[in-house]
Amino acid sequence: MPKHVAIIMDGNGRWAKQQGKLRVFGHQNGVKAVRSAVSFAAKHGIKVLTLYAFSSENWSRPEAEVSALMALFMKALDSEVKKLHKNNIRLKIIGDKSGFSETLQKRITESEQLTATNTGLILNIAANYGSYWDITQAAQKMAVKVKLGEISVSDITPTLFQNELVTEHQPQVDLLIRTSGEQRISNFLLWQIAYAELFFTPVLWPDFNEQVFSEAIMAYQQRERRFGGC
Ligand code: FPP
Repeated sequence: MPKHVAIIMDGNGRWAKQQGKLRVFGHQNGVKAVRSAVSFAAKHGIKVLTLYAFSSENWSRPEAEVSALMALFMKALDSEVKKLHKNNIRLKIIGDKSGFSETLQKRITESEQLTATNTGLILNIAANYGSYWDITQAAQKMAVKVKLGEISVSDITPTLFQNELVTEHQPQVDLLIRTSGEQRISNFLLWQIAYAELFFTPVLWPDFNEQVFSEAIMAYQQRERRFGGC
């Protein structure tokens, strides 16, 4: 089993269009697929599941769609967090939280605090996340430590740097899945996927289910991982 699986949930808009509905209908149905991915990961002993919910670049979408997505995050936090907690799942929102409304930030903090000591699956929701931002904020934190004399420049190693990323001490990504047939990374976990296996599926996100997740795991298990060795 991969320890850390990351998923770029793509294709909600196309799925909605196929049904003759507005894009937001696709996002609403995407929440069901999120539930199924979380349940699969928890059931199969995956340690960390990271889902790309909203990128730093998604703010450029039409205002109505952005508002609908924010409302959906808020609703999901309200309705799902207790269930996550009951299932011993630890929720972390990784991304630049300062971009969200005060109410959403407060809800995020409460949800993270409620589940902070849970020992099962770690569920990272990447929201207002972009790797350029992640790597830059890690570099800034290191620079502050050097300035304060806590560390010297030569203390900065890949491991030290990695621990300043939003994924902190979590294992690196083993398997990256992207739905909807697109084959690109879109500024997602660039450092953390250095040796990840990639799995692309044409399935649109709202149709993602435990069977598609199993296919990705089986494909992963057939790969030979060499980490640069031979
Ligand atoms: C990509 O599809 C999807 C998103 C940008 C949003 C993902 C959000 C959800 C799945 C719902 C809520 C999530 C949580 C964690 C509660 P797209 O809109 O880019 O689709 P398209 O490429 O077909 O246009």
